[in-house]
Amino acid sequence: MKYYKDNREYIAALEKNNDLVRIKEEIDWDMEAGAIVRKVCEDKAPSPVMENIKDYPGHRYFGAPIATYPRLATVLGLDPNSSIPEIADEYLKRTKGNPPAPKILDKSEAPCKENIITGNDVDLLKLPAPMVHEGDGGRYLGTWHFIVAKDPDNGDVNWGMYRTMVYDSKTMVGPVLPFSDMGKMLHGKCAPRGKTLPFAMVIGPDPISAIASCAPSSIPEPELAGLMMGESVELVKCETCDLEVPAHAEIIIEGEILPDFQLDEAPFGEYTGYRTSPREPRTVYRVNCITYRNDPITTISNMGVPTDEGQLLRSFSLGLELEKLLRSQGIPITGVFMPPESTHHMMVVGVKPIYSNIAAQIAQLAFGSKLGPWFHQVVVVDDSIDIYNYAEVFHAFTTRCHPKDGIHVWDGVGTPLNPFATKFERTWSKGPKVLFDCTFPVDWDKNDLPRLVSFKTIYPQDIQEKVLARWADWGFNRK
Ligand SMILES: Cc1cc2nc3c(=O)[nH]c(=O)nc-3n(C[C@H](O)[C@H](O)[C@H](O)COP(=O)(O)O)c2cc1C
Repeated sequence: MKYYKDNREYIAALEKNNDLVRIKEEIDWDMEAGAIVRKVCEDKAPSPVMENIKDYPGHRYFGAPIATYPRLATVLGLDPNSSIPEIADEYLKRTKGNPPAPKILDKSEAPCKENIITGNDVDLLKLPAPMVHEGDGGRYLGTWHFIVAKDPDNGDVNWGMYRTMVYDSKTMVGPVLPFSDMGKMLHGKCAPRGKTLPFAMVIGPDPISAIASCAPSSIPEPELAGLMMGESVELVKCETCDLEVPAHAEIIIEGEILPDFQLDEAPFGEYTGYRTSPREPRTVYRVNCITYRNDPITTISNMGVPTDEGQLLRSFSLGLELEKLLRSQGIPITGVFMPPESTHHMMVVGVKPIYSNIAAQIAQLAFGSKLGPWFHQVVVVDDSIDIYNYAEVFHAFTTRCHPKDGIHVWDGVGTPLNPFATKFERTWSKGPKVLFDCTFPVDWDKNDLPRLVSFKTIYPQDIQEKVLARWADWGFNRK
């Protein structure tokens, strides 16, 4: 199975695909790099590698690493022009089977140990944390990275992306939502016991490990990464705590999370495309050690209006993990797609509507799952609609969803980042949920169903074929 051991190999592959731009001119970490990455996301332009960062000789930036489907296809070893369903099939194929246990390398074999800084020499300000957007509460080191932590009771390892802002030379701060895996460790176990939680932050992870860390799979992330690579992920022991990190990552920051003390963090441009969270006390990371590769490459994701890699990958993997859930329950779905432009707020489900209220059953399962807090709109269409075709879905939504009987609203768990949420809802992670049932009721007489008037549905097969056979000859551009 094709995979890239580190971002250096991946950058070379993007360069070969003409999907990478190297910038040799000096670029300021103070908003200029952020502005470049933002424009790249909005234009779906090639990934930038910035090789000359102001005040940080020897450091480099890699922006928008997986912000487009062609880049995601490349990560998964596919042709960059693959369609979304083809990429989805590859993800489903790669996330099936028995996950291999990680392989622990000797420290001498791990590039992330090329430089080791401990004790008084630790200084986060020597790393080129970018000021990503104007108005951010500080410089963010953790924008495309993950945090490794171990459950204090059962030893389960979690990799999760939780943003981190540099607070001072030895301190970072950031939000850890209470329903995330690390949130449950911190708020449910460490805080009540007054115990610190050792952590390791991985900056510049290889692209598959990055995907695994933000995929809402039930498989522990180091094993999921190995499963997606087709062989064990290579890890190495930390210097100052009992954790392991990807050996080929660019920068590792080790330390402890303090459960009983918070510092102010934010605002920050967020995945919803807005700056929503106020500056308020959040989780504190005290740093003991930094290790890094020679000429390290700091990854930058610039969250804002769609599409950045967080939106793209979270939509992609949330949709496919929800698809697995619905299939495991025997629901006759044709597929699930979360448009990244919805900032993973809308789940579109295709189904064979063979019994009443199947749409409500789908929505209740999806909203009730572990993934429920991250989205609030479920759109259910019948199996005649191509769920990846925005025009078909929008047409079904506007013509088949009964404005009274087709819309169902429930209370649920939500993120404090929802721009539409009230202050009270944000404070208490409350999130209302809505189902748009765009299927015609099964109790309607089949002969009374409104007939879709399209080339594919309204003409006999032989007429369609006759027209299509000569279409290009007539000079029409046939797709
Ligand atoms: C770029 C990016 C930044 C994120 N930042 C945060 C964050 O600051 N806090 C948080 O709780 N979740 C954040 N998330 C979502 C978590 O990474 C996500 O829930 C992750 O899969 C953790 O999984 P878990 O819920 O299984 O722990 C972020 C996701 C991405 C892609």
